[in-house]
Amino acid sequence: MQRLFHFLIYVCVLTSVLLITSILWTHGILVTWNKKWDADSLQKTQINRLPSGKESVNLTDGVYTYYLNVTQFLSEFPVLQDYQCSLTLTPHGHFEETLAQPLLILAIKSHPASGARRNALRRTWAQEGEVRGYWVKPIFLTAQTPKPGHTEILKIENREFGDILQWDFSESHHNLSLKERCFLEWLHHHLPRVAFIFKGDDDEYVNPYAVVQYIKIHGSSPYTLHGSLRPHSAVMRHTKYAVSKDLYPFNKYPHFLSGGGFLFPGSAVKSLYAASQEIPVFPLDDVYFGFLALAANLTYRHDARFYVYGLAFDACQYQRALVVHGIGPKRMVEIYEDIQRTQCT
Ligand SMILES: *[C@@H]1O[C@H](CO)[C@@H](O)[C@H](O)[C@H]1NC(C)=O
Ligand SMILES: *[C@@H]1O[C@H](CO)[C@@H](O)[C@H](O)[C@H]1NC(C)=O
Ligand SMILES: *[C@@H]1O[C@H](CO)[C@@H](O)[C@H](O)[C@H]1NC(C)=O
Ligand SMILES: *[C@@H]1O[C@H](CO)[C@@H](O)[C@H](O)[C@H]1NC(C)=O
Repeated sequence: MQRLFHFLIYVCVLTSVLLITSILWTHGILVTWNKKWDADSLQKTQINRLPSGKESVNLTDGVYTYYLNVTQFLSEFPVLQDYQCSLTLTPHGHFEETLAQPLLILAIKSHPASGARRNALRRTWAQEGEVRGYWVKPIFLTAQTPKPGHTEILKIENREFGDILQWDFSESHHNLSLKERCFLEWLHHHLPRVAFIFKGDDDEYVNPYAVVQYIKIHGSSPYTLHGSLRPHSAVMRHTKYAVSKDLYPFNKYPHFLSGGGFLFPGSAVKSLYAASQEIPVFPLDDVYFGFLALAANLTYRHDARFYVYGLAFDACQYQRALVVHGIGPKRMVEIYEDIQRTQCT
């Protein structure tokens, strides 16, 4: 009798629990509670996330003062400010060990789809090895595309050549500034003793012999950047280099080096990296580097042998050039052989 009574109570309790649950459920209460709980945990992860750490700044170069308003940069380009550099592929080779020679990194921005260009460069000037007492290491700076095949190819290339750095952000024009910011972070943490860094594109001829020679003659200042100087360029409002007046109301940029190819000493990395942690990230990569250099109090040396607008082919002139922009993969292989063969006086 007592057993039956307990059993009836048990059935009653179970039924009411089921009934109440289903009523709550149909009224969407559980659903909203679920959502609220999700939102809470989401908020928690956002609170725990590191803040971008960037602040508005006034930078002055003695001629103009440039105000970078972090609120505006965060509203137009939040990813550029907030992205936390995360690597998916890293290079390998002798350069990681203690080298007898000073290290020169050739850092080449490359889209994952540009495998033909990378292969042409590897067959010509982008080879790891010693050049006039320096250890030269090419590294391709890459990001992500929606095509899974691209990353597979990069993985295979990296296994064979060990010359790929890849981050997990998506390739785009404005995201190129992330290649600057994240590359500085990588240099700062992984290559504290690098002597010099050349930055360029994958559609150009770079002359490691001339670059090393240039460093030996002009590279003694630890605070000087070298390249083709754009002095106080006018701000564009209509091309693919356009920026809004809200983001940047001024008509002029501070000096910067053309992104087609420039050179800087490893001793400048620390202050450039520190600046990248503090100032808003500008959506044009060469201008952004100019702002970093200004914030880091670095100086410039212009040299005409950075042929960032191209140069008609002449084997002897190319032997003296530091970089020539605008050469496709097929042409690269042809002219390289010609340059190697030609005796110039
Ligand atoms: C920058 O300069 C402007 C004008 O002098 C001033 O209003 C603003 O507070 C300054 N901002 C910062 C972050 O120093
Ligand atoms: C910075 O930008 C925000 C958002 O556009 C604006 O409200 C604020 O007035 C700007 N600050 C300055 C000092 O211009
Ligand atoms: C830049 O990269 C971020 C992170 O991967 C991505 O969300 C964003 O869409 C990219 N920007 C463009 C314009 O593709
Ligand atoms: C750059 O120089 C200015 C003025 O001399 C100084 O206030 C600032 O701290 C320097 N910045 C760096 C990164 O050395």
